[in-house]
Amino acid sequence: MHIRLVSPADADALLAIYNPEVIETVVTFDLVPGETSDMLAWIESHLGAHPAIVAVADNPVEAPEGTPLSANGDAILGYASIREFRDRPAYATTVENSVYVARSARGQGIARHLMDHLIIMATDAGFHSMIARIVGDNETSIKLHEACGFELVGIEREVGRKHGRWLNVVEMQLLLGS
Ligand SMILES: CC(C)(COP(=O)(O)OP(=O)(O)OC[C@H]1O[C@@H](n2cnc3c(N)ncnc32)[C@H](O)[C@@H]1OP(=O)(O)O)[C@@H](O)C(=O)NCCC(=O)NCCS
Repeated sequence: MHIRLVSPADADALLAIYNPEVIETVVTFDLVPGETSDMLAWIESHLGAHPAIVAVADNPVEAPEGTPLSANGDAILGYASIREFRDRPAYATTVENSVYVARSARGQGIARHLMDHLIIMATDAGFHSMIARIVGDNETSIKLHEACGFELVGIEREVGRKHGRWLNVVEMQLLLGS
């Protein structure tokens, strides 16, 4: 497996990873699955200072069954990104992260690999703080972020509603090197 920057050719593979989470789970607060055009716009917004990265199987033939393929034939195991945390200028040194792994490839350390890479990239780019906002019952993601050094900031209670439930958001933070 190797990690590279996202490309527009990855749009449908990323949608194949993301949309099932929109439809079936509460890990994302989006309510309506995205179209290719939405994902292309998302990728475009992550080609600059706030990048997205993808984990690619070294040999697509050996990727787990069901792993989505990009338009150039890469098997996309997962992706991670940073975005602006808040738009007021004094927040510019803080980013918020996101990470998704294909259901076919979970439990093999892909998310950890993506997160470690993302943290190094964000640190090298001069960002000072990374925030993760995680739905309260997403124990897997909370454990992942703890393993990456994030610490609990606090819990926003019942700030979301999806699938007929009130949802808490757990905020976690990692201070970066610079
Ligand atoms: C959360 C997610 C990204 C984890 O991806 P993954 O590749 O399976 O995770 P990894 O194999 O890299 O595991 C990394 C760490 O996460 C934790 N973890 C992973 N799977 C777990 C599970 N089923 N239960 C508890 N902890 C788990 C562990 O701390 C693990 O480290 P360890 O293996 O050393 O114990 C993946 O489940 C996913 O895409 N979920 C849906 C999207 C989502 O929730 N994204 C996060 C939104 S905030």
